[in-house]
Amino acid sequence: YVIGIDLGTSAVKVLLVNLYGKVEQEISKEYPLIQKKSGYNEQNPELWVAQTISALRELISGFGGRPEDIEGISFSGQMHGLVLLDKNHEVICPAILWNDTRTTKECEEITEAIGYQKLLGITKNIALEGFTLPKILWVKNHEPENYKQISHFLLPKDYLRFRMTGALHSEFSDAAGTLLLDIENSSWSDEICRILDIDINMCPPLISSHECVGTITNEFADETGLNQSTKIFAGGADNACGAIGSGILEEGRTMVSIGTSGVVLAHEKNNDKSFDGKVHYFDHAVPDSYYTMGVTLSAGHSFSWFKNTFAETEEYEALIEEAENTPVGSDGLLFSPYLSGERTPHVDASIRGSFIGMDSRHERKHFTRAVLEGITFSLNESIEIFRENGKEVEKIISIGGGAKSEIWLQMQADIFNGEVTKLTSEQGPGMGAAMLAAYGTGWFNSLKECANIFLSEDKTFTPIRENVEKYQYLFEQYKLIYSSTKEINE
Ligand code: XUL
Repeated sequence: YVIGIDLGTSAVKVLLVNLYGKVEQEISKEYPLIQKKSGYNEQNPELWVAQTISALRELISGFGGRPEDIEGISFSGQMHGLVLLDKNHEVICPAILWNDTRTTKECEEITEAIGYQKLLGITKNIALEGFTLPKILWVKNHEPENYKQISHFLLPKDYLRFRMTGALHSEFSDAAGTLLLDIENSSWSDEICRILDIDINMCPPLISSHECVGTITNEFADETGLNQSTKIFAGGADNACGAIGSGILEEGRTMVSIGTSGVVLAHEKNNDKSFDGKVHYFDHAVPDSYYTMGVTLSAGHSFSWFKNTFAETEEYEALIEEAENTPVGSDGLLFSPYLSGERTPHVDASIRGSFIGMDSRHERKHFTRAVLEGITFSLNESIEIFRENGKEVEKIISIGGGAKSEIWLQMQADIFNGEVTKLTSEQGPGMGAAMLAAYGTGWFNSLKECANIFLSEDKTFTPIRENVEKYQYLFEQYKLIYSSTKEINE
């Protein structure tokens, strides 16, 4: 057996997976967000650890086998979050998360000090509020007392692994999301640290996602019931692990994941393409490969907001069924999902969403369909950037909430104008983490070999020509919303 631990934003999920990729147990434990001010999103790292212990303890007590039969554990984690440790390796302050937007000024400071092109050259990315480096600078600028105490920073799942093993590490897929990684040289960037006057010794040693970092501490074994023979592997960023868990292991494969946020992710063999910073370009957790990614900040979140605010039903599927009999294009109603700003392609924390084209004929079902279409149009903007830069987006694997409804899957095929496939019993990033452990322990010679055993495709949705044509016209209308509403929202 192996265990995949997915340290998410709302909960930690642990998966017990057998040699054939079958999930034998799945346990989730939640923890809250701390939102002290508008735009602030923090979490208490101690709760990540406590809830993981509680989930693992439950898993072990419900496990029929012997704990020593669990050969490996690996991780997937929410990206970009900043955990600061002092010289005794104690946490200095709450972790600042990926969805925290307080750092607009620090992003400007970074771009100005390093230069837009140079930053893009070193890291393959531009400065965005969500990334880790702007958060480090924010602490430097606003909390100098805390800054002075820093001995290391860690990313969320790297902190959890540190607490399990006592070893401080980062791995490349999460390090790439800090804006401190020199992607070409696979090392922390001396130059960025020097220009911004950040001590490079704050950065933890880098290893690969499938590398073994050791075993758990006595204390962690006592607290969970896990055996100390179980090997611990580094793991990866949640999007990289989601890609592994969806079989995005070679060029030509694209993943669309609709969770709270929405992600369009494409495998890249090399790091030499230029997308001019329009999409993120990160190290993959698959050896010697990369991925590019566009992010819609409020994807599933727009739909849950709509359901909770305007619908009497608790059931997503019932609400979506209403939309099925509504025509393509929702009879002229358009929705832009910018409930908390937008990342790709606009990089704009202040833009807000809208319904455009309301008519007295419209009923709730039109609004429902417009919300689903608006979210999918936003994801299509990322797909359009890929295609404009010469990438082929033909085979799309859809995961997350958006893959639970056949109506939405067909809509994705029609709007993306490509084949959209859903997997059998998809588990997202947690499965990717389990696959890293399975590969790390030597069950398989490659992640691809593991994917052949662990993953299978369920159903493929093919674009319907008539719908594709209608959506191509509507997508052009949708794209006008951003520039037309930008001034109003400023
Ligand atoms: C990616 C990002 C989010 C988080 C969610 O850049 O910010 O997808 O990884 O956990």
